[in-house]
Amino acid sequence: MMSPIDPRKLRNAFGKFATGVTIITTVESNGTPRGFTANSFTSVSLDPPLLLVCIDKSAASLPVFQEGKGFAVNILVEAQKNAAGLFASHRADKFNSVPWHSGRLGMPLIDDVLAWFECVSENHVDAGDHVILIGRITDFDYRNAQPLGYAGGGYFNLGLEQSLVDVASKGTGIIIGAVLEQDGALLLKEDDKTSKVSVPAIGRDGTQPSLPRLVKELSSGDLSVSIDFLFAVYEDLKTGVHVVYYRGMASGPALAGTRFFSFDEIPWDRLIDDPTHSMLERYVREFKYGNFAIYMGDDIEGKVHALDTKTAGSDT
Ligand SMILES: Cc1cc2nc3c(=O)[nH]c(=O)nc-3n(C[C@H](O)[C@H](O)[C@H](O)COP(=O)(O)O)c2cc1C
Repeated sequence: MMSPIDPRKLRNAFGKFATGVTIITTVESNGTPRGFTANSFTSVSLDPPLLLVCIDKSAASLPVFQEGKGFAVNILVEAQKNAAGLFASHRADKFNSVPWHSGRLGMPLIDDVLAWFECVSENHVDAGDHVILIGRITDFDYRNAQPLGYAGGGYFNLGLEQSLVDVASKGTGIIIGAVLEQDGALLLKEDDKTSKVSVPAIGRDGTQPSLPRLVKELSSGDLSVSIDFLFAVYEDLKTGVHVVYYRGMASGPALAGTRFFSFDEIPWDRLIDDPTHSMLERYVREFKYGNFAIYMGDDIEGKVHALDTKTAGSDT
């Protein structure tokens, strides 16, 4: 017998597919704009010009999309990460803090996106816990810029790769660190003497750092570490040192001198410096809004919980 599909594991497997990020918009019959962040956008056909996006049946805006005459797809640039977070929330005032205008069809178009498509509704297909919205494109445009990317439950940024090349070419001091997460907790280093807390990194002592060396050092106990993406590149203005942070996953017990802190336990007042503070704040914020767990969110968690309860029930 085939083993049952674990929805959590399936969600993680789906999340391995790297995508861009879009905001799908429409209008209510009274003219109120509505929209949500989506990475399920797919181009479908050139002739006729068709595209699709999948909307969760639990989305508050579902009825508006089902009843409306059309919708628009706005493909985001990397500077629009905050808009992606905002439109992934249930806030009623999503359109108050992003500049937008109406397209010829009357659909809300977000300003300065990478590409946009205005569509009339061609078809809705019922598909499990989602509805597939198929749109026929009536108008579109695009420009050249860096797209915002999404994979493994977090945003990535191709422009950062360029910053890394710039840092490497300057040949100044470099620190390489990794923000590592295990079950919603971050691996941080605590200094015995000063009790200051930092993100695991190498190069602070002036030695030549490298990512493989950092991974090797961190994996020397029973902890296994995998690096996903570049997360931040900046120059520490106080020291002139360039700091490069990756983000990744850890699994296993923390090494001596390090500890996993859940997001609520992060000792913000003991962090080693302001840049580390801002970087971790950004990590926590993006995790909350951008995490795929939150996307499939309540629905999947609810189902998993229901399955667990059922299993527990059948045991007794
Ligand atoms: C990167 C990312 C991709 C998402 N992709 C989708 C998607 O394809 N379909 C969907 O229904 N929700 C998706 N979501 C979740 C919705 O944006 C979120 O549930 C939103 O609150 C729905 O808005 P509404 O409840 O106001 O309709 C995604 C969220 C993020 C952060």
